[in-house]
Amino acid sequence: MTERRYRVLVTDEVDPEGVAILRAHPDIEVVEKPTRPLTEVLEEIGTYDAFIGRSATRVTREFLQAGERLRIIGRAGVGVDNVDLPTATELGIAVINAPGGNTVSVAELAFGVLIGLARHVPVAAESMRAGRWDRSKLGGIELRGKTMAIIGVGRIGGEMARRARAFGMQVIGYDPYIAAPRFEELAIERVERLNEALERADVLTVHVPLNNETRGMIGAPELSRMGRQAFVLNLARGGVVAEDALADALTSGRIAGAAVDAFDHEPLPVDSPLRAIPNLILTPHLGASTTDAQRNVAVEACEAVRDALVTGD
Ligand code: MLT
Repeated sequence: MTERRYRVLVTDEVDPEGVAILRAHPDIEVVEKPTRPLTEVLEEIGTYDAFIGRSATRVTREFLQAGERLRIIGRAGVGVDNVDLPTATELGIAVINAPGGNTVSVAELAFGVLIGLARHVPVAAESMRAGRWDRSKLGGIELRGKTMAIIGVGRIGGEMARRARAFGMQVIGYDPYIAAPRFEELAIERVERLNEALERADVLTVHVPLNNETRGMIGAPELSRMGRQAFVLNLARGGVVAEDALADALTSGRIAGAAVDAFDHEPLPVDSPLRAIPNLILTPHLGASTTDAQRNVAVEACEAVRDALVTGD
């Protein structure tokens, strides 16, 4: 067998439909491995031209420096906060993500947990399993006529807006980086100040990447501006909504409920105080965990890595 020109390491269970795209190229040799400790990856990363993974493998400075032949990091997903971007730039390694593939899955889960909060679905299911009939204690609210404030009007924020409108909600949005026409196209009322979004929200949902500007963006002062009826959703990244502040706001009744899918530390520690808060729905970073989204992001990332490898000489 003739030697193939490019070696690509694929890990973190990237969907096979994407991997098949790489395998089909005559110049690409694919090596697939399960998620492993960084020390093991470091031993061999120097023999690859490209790496493709999800969020489980942290692409640190050490990783990138050890990758002597590395030209491309492919991320089968949106967030690149697991990649040391300054080092990648310094070393001339391209970082490619798959921005479009999982937006619908994230938005659908957000509505799943939102309805869960509005109608007490997890509590009701638990009470039934425990043999009770708590009908009189579990009255809920409709979403119709309520105001959803979307923080971050990118791809996922846009999908949230479309669905919120279908539920008859009023949609307001805060995003200083997005121009007015996109708000108009999505029929989102643009608010200029975060405080206005907080004060008007029945449902506050964050869809921004984690960076120095967004870390702790929704903390105690922000939560204190919200109405007692409000729900807060964080299906973006741990740290955008400060976990301690959210726990305090929920236990004190400052807000009515919340749902969190992304955490400061993942997996969420077994003894995390968040686990004990009743009006908080927790899910283990499931936003993009659908067969559809995983196939989409794998295909998107693998095609982009293939093209960058074979046309990049
Ligand atoms: C993403 O960034 O694409 C999602 O949070 C899911 C993931 O981390 O793979």
